[in-house]
Amino acid sequence: MLNDFIKISTLTKNEISSLIDDANAFKSLAKNSDVKGKTACLMFFENSTRTKISFEVAAKNLDMRVINFDNATSSINKGETLKETVENLYFIGIDTVIIRTSNDTLIEDLRDNVEYPIKFINAGSGKSSHPSQALLDYFTMKEKLGDVCGKKIVIVGDIEHSRVAKSNIELLKKFGAEIVICAPEFFKPEVQLDGAVFEADLKTAIKNADVVMGLRIQRERILEAYSEEEYIKNYRLNSEILEQYAPNAILMHPGPVNRDVEITSELLDSTKGKIILEQARNGVYTRMAVLNQLLGEERL
Ligand code: CP
Repeated sequence: MLNDFIKISTLTKNEISSLIDDANAFKSLAKNSDVKGKTACLMFFENSTRTKISFEVAAKNLDMRVINFDNATSSINKGETLKETVENLYFIGIDTVIIRTSNDTLIEDLRDNVEYPIKFINAGSGKSSHPSQALLDYFTMKEKLGDVCGKKIVIVGDIEHSRVAKSNIELLKKFGAEIVICAPEFFKPEVQLDGAVFEADLKTAIKNADVVMGLRIQRERILEAYSEEEYIKNYRLNSEILEQYAPNAILMHPGPVNRDVEITSELLDSTKGKIILEQARNGVYTRMAVLNQLLGEERL
């Protein structure tokens, strides 16, 4: 069983594979809930549709109770710290807090400082970590490719500000994928990302790829100068370029897509673009697996 679900880097290959097995079992209705009656609290301090709602659907599918924390009306606005808030939630009966935050380290800090055994789930933190997205992406790749070992997976776009890219690289390198990251200079990661090779030219990067994953330009997180015009000219994915350089590749994107910026509408609305919706659906099963493994033991 898991102690928390905060970073891909601290999960073992066996733990990830066990989550994938459980997600498969939930998808095929072959597994029942071990966590019926447990309570999850969604604490989203940044916007979300997919992650927030699929965690809620996942919890409800497992017969859990779900509370939506409303930051605007909470006592945080009366000066209560998040640590105090989480500790009070534990005593009120919350078993897990599912947190999305712009802060890279806040969830780990809470885990290390909260004195009670409430379980922490990272639903996206800063530009460093989005472990449940990486898990659902890996689940989707396995469904489409069988295995990722030796497969060429190309991640294109705003790598520097993307937590999705970082968590995917951490996960995919554990399973032996060949990972290529491709970005303009203004979105190239400031630090080398272990396990991934950088290629600035889109056509070279995607040549014979098995997966081409676009990323959302994280407009809300970008402080430096960048050019969407230049991005569109050199990095936007379209059917023609995929057909020419990576005809067998599956197209993925965590969503939401900046339509006609990262991917053209004609590609997004084609059959190839539909896998992005399958990713969203797979988020439910993988998040069910996370909740079930994290909470499937007696409350302390
Ligand atoms: N992929 C993703 O995290 O989407 P949301 O921001 O809608 O949750």
